[in-house]
Amino acid sequence: MRVLVVGGAGYIGSHTVYELIKDHQEVIILDNLSSGYMELVHPEAKFYKGDIRNKEDIASVFKQEKIDVVMHFAAKIVVPESVKEPLEYYHNNVEGVRTLLEVMNEYNVKKLVFSSTAAVYGEASGVCKETDITMPINPYGETKLATEKMIQWVANAHGFNYVIFRYFNVAGADQSLKIGLMKDQLTHLIPVAIQGIIGLRDHLTIYGNDYPTKDGTCIRDYIHVSDLAYAHVLGARYLNGGGKSEIMNLGSNSGYTVLEVAQAVNEIAPLKYIIGPRRDGDPAELIASNDKARNILKWIPKYTLKDIVLSDYNYRKKISNR
Ligand SMILES: NC(=O)c1ccc[n+]([C@@H]2O[C@H](COP(=O)([O-])OP(=O)(O)OC[C@H]3O[C@@H](n4cnc5c(N)ncnc54)[C@H](O)[C@@H]3O)[C@@H](O)[C@H]2O)c1
Repeated sequence: MRVLVVGGAGYIGSHTVYELIKDHQEVIILDNLSSGYMELVHPEAKFYKGDIRNKEDIASVFKQEKIDVVMHFAAKIVVPESVKEPLEYYHNNVEGVRTLLEVMNEYNVKKLVFSSTAAVYGEASGVCKETDITMPINPYGETKLATEKMIQWVANAHGFNYVIFRYFNVAGADQSLKIGLMKDQLTHLIPVAIQGIIGLRDHLTIYGNDYPTKDGTCIRDYIHVSDLAYAHVLGARYLNGGGKSEIMNLGSNSGYTVLEVAQAVNEIAPLKYIIGPRRDGDPAELIASNDKARNILKWIPKYTLKDIVLSDYNYRKKISNR
């Protein structure tokens, strides 16, 4: 397969490229490097610098490359920024995909793997199924849901097939430690907690310990980025083999409390944490049902919470030492 990975210089895109190349697929990357890094680009992938809001940038890739499947990761993903700059988010996340779909249609490439998010479920709680109500509570989630719907309408009109993946909490780094989450401004629990044990942060704040869970802290579903990336390989193979359009959650079907995550990090090195007030809109428990991905793609996540935490620690230590 020849796979075009749009956003392949970013965190999840780069891990997916590594998994595709391990799977002996040919990879072409298109990325504007707005939040991606050349050092995350696999040396065996062909790289084009360009922006998916610019039709010419996309068309120039399709003119030069024969492509079987497109994967899209090229989104802006910072929730508070999306609240401040909604137009920027709609422009990048929705208009970017609209332009991409237009060019794909013109070049008769009609298979798309799209990265969406649990944020489309909004304030859901408990175990989330793909059929649950979608009601985002911020512009980031809205742009992802709007794009999902656009893809569905376009598929209907122009005979596209798609796999839309809704991710839960993604963390960790590739075993090679050549790639990982590079960003300086981290907000996700695991990398933030790791910063607390490598001297980049004084402590971890846990938001609320009076939820109705076993230790009072929120339960979330964590998935290793390499497991997530491998699901995309299976998704591309599925579409290339004639699979029909599907929306699938990617999570682990189980959850850990924030305190359990903090304890897993504390096993590597002492972590100081404080209990802060609850944050608005945080449900007590949010877990993905991953039955669809397991059944349709035969996807089985193989990494544990310990693996996730350790790989992020090793990568963060590596990049903080330079
Ligand atoms: N990171 C998470 O925890 C998470 C959770 C749920 C869903 N997602 C989804 O996964 C996808 C990838 O997220 P990530 O964490 O790897 O983000 P990232 O910022 O690391 O990667 C995004 C990549 O896309 C590129 N890009 C952005 N806009 C572009 C444009 N207009 N044209 C060309 N390239 C562009 C960036 O330069 C970057 O390399 C996103 O679609 C996001 O919504 C991520």
